[in-house]
Formats: sequence, structure tokens, C-alpha cells
Amino acid sequence: MNIKLKTFKNVNNPKSIHGIYPYRGKISAIEAREVIAQFDKNKFLLDPFCGSGTILYEGAMNGLNSIGVELNPIGQVLSEGKINIHKSLNEEIEEIKLIIKKAKQSSNFMKMPDKPQKYFHEKTALEIMSLIQFFFDFSHYAKACFYGSICLAARGCNHYQWTSSTVGKDINPKRYINFYDKFLAKISKHYYPLPQNNSSKLIKSDTRNLSKVLNSETIDYVFTSPPYFDCLDYTAYYGKIIMEIFEIDRQKIRSQLIQNFNDYEPSMKIVLNQLYEVVKTGGKVMFVVGDKKIKGNIISGSEFFNDITPFKIIKVLERKYTNSSSQIFDRLNKTKRKEQIVLWEK
Ligand SMILES: C[S@@+](CC[C@H](N)C(=O)[O-])C[C@H]1O[C@@H](n2cnc3c(N)ncnc32)[C@H](O)[C@@H]1O
Repeated sequence: MNIKLKTFKNVNNPKSIHGIYPYRGKISAIEAREVIAQFDKNKFLLDPFCGSGTILYEGAMNGLNSIGVELNPIGQVLSEGKINIHKSLNEEIEEIKLIIKKAKQSSNFMKMPDKPQKYFHEKTALEIMSLIQFFFDFSHYAKACFYGSICLAARGCNHYQWTSSTVGKDINPKRYINFYDKFLAKISKHYYPLPQNNSSKLIKSDTRNLSKVLNSETIDYVFTSPPYFDCLDYTAYYGKIIMEIFEIDRQKIRSQLIQNFNDYEPSMKIVLNQLYEVVKTGGKVMFVVGDKKIKGNIISGSEFFNDITPFKIIKVLERKYTNSSSQIFDRLNKTKRKEQIVLWEK
């Protein structure tokens, strides 16, 4: 298999479903699409760390049977939102307009908890909470858009001084953002449903237990960006705000995800062995990995993973980080890290 990689000037594609939410560590959908287009159609593609569902969705869009696994509840809502759009745009909008009408008439709803309240204008926070009482009636797609609208509103209330991916300083006084309008606009903007006959699915599970939820020798391709070994916190920034609003136990989620230094290597060994079980003989596995800086030394992501993989190493494609936050960190840290795609075979 001869995978080609292009270098793109800009890897962001806001005019797609992936602009729904600024998920931490989101892989470029343009690059994911470029790689997936080189896979044979109708095969089984697994993303064992599917996050906001970029690869899961792009695989299904490209005619593969796409399976995603994710343990973070925010990633789960986003992934489900992308792959489960069964209504027309008009129906989605009319449904939410009706809910907004009911929300505006109601007064008997919960107040936003104090911690997240500080990120929003008081009136915006009330609008968010007036809708949360109906959250379980929303379609999967509307739920994902609702999460994304909360992030947008938080940025707006802080005078758009925060970036799309990181939360900045509290800016006071807060600016009022009409949440109802933002929510409706988001629903229209990112509506790119998959073909209705697609067979994509999300499995809400810990990837370390993969062989309990997938049959052995069933997967043709694995394509993923695993939690990086700089151990980013996938519950931080906007995720933290959502979890605080919905009163999700963030510490519990954090402790379940693979994102701490002590158990990173043993966890990844378990994941790779689980993948070995579910991948067909001859199946291909691609991990998008990155270098890490520890005490001034750069550890190569591909060397780390190649040392612990049970798969046969086929090749490593390496390139500089393109327009991404990693490139900005490099500039700040005076490092020149690289990103690699490692390709293995069973
Ligand atoms: C680099 S992100 C993937 C981002 C994804 N490619 C996207 O475009 O949104 C890695 C993901 O692994 C998830 N994760 C970490 N530990 C996990 C585990 N034990 N089981 C399943 N998912 C896990 C994190 O929640 C995070 O969403």
C-alpha cells in the first residue's frame, strides 16, 4: 500500500461538519479525507480514538464501513451528531425553533452553576440553561451543535479574545451574545449529512477493552490520531466549560482517559495488542503521531510506537507540522518537532 501525503497550506475547513466544535487534538479533515480516499471502498475502517469523529465521518463519506471508539462523553456526543443526521435541515431548524419558543416561555429552569457562569453574560447563560431542560429531546446533530454553540457563545461573551481552540483570560464586563441565534446559525452552517445508507457506528468504550466490543479479525484498516504522549488533557478548555455546565464528573473522566505520563506506555501496549486481535491478517494500521520534548530532548513519536508495536512496520512518513497550534508551540519552545504517520501491517 503506497500512501501519499500532501502538504497543505491550510488544514482548516470551517465549511464542513467538522467546524461544529473546537475539539482538542482534532485531526485535519482535509488530510484525513486525502488518506482515506486511498483506502479500498466497502472495507471496515476503525478509529480507536475517534474524538469528535473526524475520521469516523470521513470514512463513512468515502464509502467505508466506519467504526469509531471513544470514551470521552464530549467526543461521543460530537461523533454521534456527525454520523446520525436523519432529518432534513428544515426539520432540524423547525424542531429547534419550537424548542426555543418553549424555552423562552419557561421560567422554572435550573440556574447555571457558578463556575461556568463566570464565562458568560448573565442573559446568555440564562438562554443556555433555558434550552438545557430540553436537551434530551434534541436530535443527535442538534446536541453536537448545542455543544459547539456554547463554545462560540463563551468566545463571544469574552469579546472574541479567546481563540477557537483555547480558553483565554476572563474579559469583563461580558458582552451579550444571543444564544438562540448562534445555535440556529450553527445548525444551518454545518449541516452536511452522510448518505443515509452508510453503516458508520460509534462504540462508547475504553479502547483498552476493544476485543470485548469487536470481533477478532474483522477490521481492514485502522486510522487514528491516538492521545499524544505529551499527554494533552482532552477534558480541558471548552470541554471543561461544557462539563461544568452539564455537571459531568470531569475528574472521573480524566482519570479514565489515556492522558497521564505514568501509564501512557503500558496503556498503549494494551491498545496495540487489542488492535492486533481485531485487525484482519493483512490489515493495515496507520497512527498519526508526533514528537515530544522532554527536558530539552526530542523523542520521536514514530520510534516510540515502533518499539512497542506487535505489527510489522511498513513505513514512516514524516513532515513538519503544518499550520497548527503545534507549530506555534514549536516557535515558542524553539523546537522543530515533526509529525509522522506510521504504517503497520498484520
Ligand atoms: C488526538 S484525540 C483524537 C481526535 C480525533 N482524531 C478528532 O479529529 O477529533 C485522542 C482521543 O482519544 C480519546 N481517548 C483517550 N483515552 C481513551 C481510551 N482509553 N479509550 C477511548 N478513547 C480514549 C480522547 O478522549 C481523545 O478524544
